[in-house]
Amino acid sequence: MLKYLQKTFALLLTVVLLSTLLMACDTVTTAESETATASSTAAYSSLPVAYTDKELSASPAKLPPLPYDNTALSKAIDAETMKLHHDAHHAAYVNNLNDALKNFQNLQKRSVESLLRDLNSVPEDIRTKVRNNGGGHLNHTMFWQIMSPEGGGEPTGELAQEINTTFGSFDQFKQQFNQAGASRFGSGWVWLVRNPQGQLQITTTANQDNPIMEGSYPIMGNDVWEHAYYLRYRNRRGEYLNNWWNVVNWPEINKRSQLSLKQS
Ligand SMILES: [Fe+2]
Repeated sequence: MLKYLQKTFALLLTVVLLSTLLMACDTVTTAESETATASSTAAYSSLPVAYTDKELSASPAKLPPLPYDNTALSKAIDAETMKLHHDAHHAAYVNNLNDALKNFQNLQKRSVESLLRDLNSVPEDIRTKVRNNGGGHLNHTMFWQIMSPEGGGEPTGELAQEINTTFGSFDQFKQQFNQAGASRFGSGWVWLVRNPQGQLQITTTANQDNPIMEGSYPIMGNDVWEHAYYLRYRNRRGEYLNNWWNVVNWPEINKRSQLSLKQS
């Protein structure tokens, strides 16, 4: 009888222990998936992209002036390219965006970031025009700011450490960024983004798409459309990508990285 009681007690104890263990595992798994889902959907949803302190207005969209002279970035980009790129290409994105939104006062009240984050809320007949030209306006507005005549060198502080941890070293980061930019088929952009999980990542987008359309925050990006380099570099996109580091504005990029950390 005593043996029977001992066996039953041991069996009960095993069942209780196993149930407790299974419940604990389930709690951990549920908590982790909820956190991951929350960070993917909520990440960067209210962060400005065009500037670090304000979103890009579409009522009406306006061409921002270049923050320097056309000749100022000649270490990487010639004056004629700068002039055409800003005064003709960027201006066209602005004009076309205004044209797309001209009959939609409710959409004009929203920022360009908000339109691109939720393209399904834009009527289908103007959606592609808003995507291409809103994206073009947003991407180029950021692009002019993340370059500077005093640019070049290497990042400092927290971003420098994070680049080293993520990519191995600054040189390896540059190499991977250039490789991604060179491999982007046709027209598009190469980016350093903070992804929805809060990690640094190199990505590319086609045409004028921006990483916010996929829930990532663009910390920096280089334009690899031929209009960005063809006059000086012809078909040598790799040479343009290499020289571009001479005008990269690290203080501004650091600011963008800090901003993205606040909401990752
Ligand atoms: Fe461009």
